[in-house]
Amino acid sequence: MWPRLRSVCSGSRTICRRGAALSKRPKLTANANVTHFTQSAALCAPTSSALQYRQHGDPSQVVKLEDIDLPPIGAKDVLVKILAAPINPSDINMIQGTYAILPDLPAVGGNEGVAQVLEVGSLVKSLKTGDWVIPRDAGLGMWRTEAVFSEDDVISLPNDIPLLSAATLGVNPCTAFRMLSDFEDLKPGDTVIQNAANSGVGQAVIQIAAARGVNTINVVRDRPEFTQLSYRLKAIGATHVIKEEALRRPEFKELLKTFPKPKLALNGVGGKSATELLRHLQIGGSMVTYGGMAKQPVTVPVSALIFKDVKVRGFWVTQWKRDHSKDERAFRAMVDELCSLIQQGKLTAPACTEVGLRDFSKALEASMKPFTSAKQVLII
Ligand SMILES: NC(=O)c1ccc[n+]([C@@H]2O[C@H](COP(=O)([O-])OP(=O)(O)OC[C@H]3O[C@@H](n4cnc5c(N)ncnc54)[C@H](OP(=O)(O)O)[C@@H]3O)[C@@H](O)[C@H]2O)c1
Repeated sequence: MWPRLRSVCSGSRTICRRGAALSKRPKLTANANVTHFTQSAALCAPTSSALQYRQHGDPSQVVKLEDIDLPPIGAKDVLVKILAAPINPSDINMIQGTYAILPDLPAVGGNEGVAQVLEVGSLVKSLKTGDWVIPRDAGLGMWRTEAVFSEDDVISLPNDIPLLSAATLGVNPCTAFRMLSDFEDLKPGDTVIQNAANSGVGQAVIQIAAARGVNTINVVRDRPEFTQLSYRLKAIGATHVIKEEALRRPEFKELLKTFPKPKLALNGVGGKSATELLRHLQIGGSMVTYGGMAKQPVTVPVSALIFKDVKVRGFWVTQWKRDHSKDERAFRAMVDELCSLIQQGKLTAPACTEVGLRDFSKALEASMKPFTSAKQVLII
């Protein structure tokens, strides 16, 4: 049953063997990390190298690369090798202890990533060796070399899409896809306005909207490389790229006259930036808040409610996945459509910086720096 994992059972561990003395692995719940098991002192288990934290705090202080035991592969489990996993703001917030859901400690970081199936349990039906899989829910802990997951905790992907696209598919493109699908009936020629347009979510919004013929007005913070950033976002389909400061200028009002006013505003920032988006919505339009990077509340002008009857909504992809966990077709349909866009070259991964697992400290620090415009991805 146990594979010969060279990277796992290395050095003195090559003499380790699994034994009956290992206690049964507790069931892996959707948002729990693999739990440790006890074993007789004479035996040692295969292990995985993992970026683990034992307490909440500053990620660069509390996250450590540690060996953790791999549990036995149950009949409905799969053993996977993690291939690549990004560092997202929600991963950082989880480690800091400020996110809406927190795994039990110690916990392995990383809510997103792609893994390859190395071995399947005897009752596994939907997966086979070699398949690529991504988590169905947050909290699996993808920053590790290998893991044993329940078959139900992952969903397969075609393994002919680029690795970085697969590693970054499960959170941001799914969020963008749902926000563009579930709040307003967007038709070709309609307009969406968004802030944090250079974020992972923002880049997915640009591309999915472009594939549907929907215009995007993309707001970013000013920076010395604004021109290059604007060029890059336009190259993936952005209709317009605007500095936050320019939203109040007369030129922007003139620009807005050239296409329909936005039906949908997507807010990943909060504070003044969100209020600015609201000002440009058409009557009856929706603003969907999915992130709060500025850590400032959203202020809704009374006039936007009275005279424009705007709808102020929120979205959390984790909740959507949990609400649809019994409806296999809903998640599968979205993943298939996103993979099809990737295969057609219409949806690419966000700009990424690839980092080895051992360089995780550098990657964690870089992921928290402003104006980087690139997602840190651990290549494992
Ligand atoms: N609700 C959901 O289901 C859901 C799903 C996915 C992501 N999210 C949230 O969406 C947000 C973006 O996630 P991501 O993975 O796409 O991010 P990302 O790729 O890491 O990019 C971060 C973005 O935030 C911007 N930013 C950072 N600090 C800012 C500030 N103080 N004011 C304005 N903008 C700021 C950055 O702009 P600069 O380049 O100017 O620094 C960049 O555009 C996060 O809050 C994340 O938690 C929510």
